[in-house]
Amino acid sequence: MAESLSVNIAATKAERYEALLPQIDALISGETNLVANLANIMACLKTTFGFFWVGAYVVQDNQLILGPFQGPLACTRINKGKGVCGTVWEKGESIIVPNVDEFPGHIACSSDSKSEIVVPVFNSKKEVTMIIDVDSNALNDFDTTDQVYLEKLAAIIAKYHF
Ligand code: SME
Repeated sequence: MAESLSVNIAATKAERYEALLPQIDALISGETNLVANLANIMACLKTTFGFFWVGAYVVQDNQLILGPFQGPLACTRINKGKGVCGTVWEKGESIIVPNVDEFPGHIACSSDSKSEIVVPVFNSKKEVTMIIDVDSNALNDFDTTDQVYLEKLAAIIAKYHF
């Protein structure tokens, strides 16, 4: 297993995602445990991009339950349709929130969180099985580049686990 990442932090965001995703694929291909792999994935994202908060919520018992993350404490359970995460679960599509104060029902785990992107992970039946959530302490910090590559990451996770 690779024990360190090779990503040039001076590169553009897209270049960093391009360098990172194959390394994540290789990293998790050698481990079958979802929690272990999500823990390493969140560490990879945190160290590559310095995200304020990055983590997973996994569908279990008809709720999203907090999984591995990096950043401040977060709420542990989210119902379908609630907040950004629960809305992504319900709709089955990614959401970019430029200003969390303008998203009806946003769940504020940290008052420092200002913008957010959430992407779904699907199983082979196209059901949402988990979501990836990234928060920033700056407004308008995520764009379609993040969406494109985080959706590629979601597909990598799905390939091995769902
Ligand atoms: N803001 C999210 C909740 C999760 S935390 O940001 C980590 C939401 O509205 O669903």
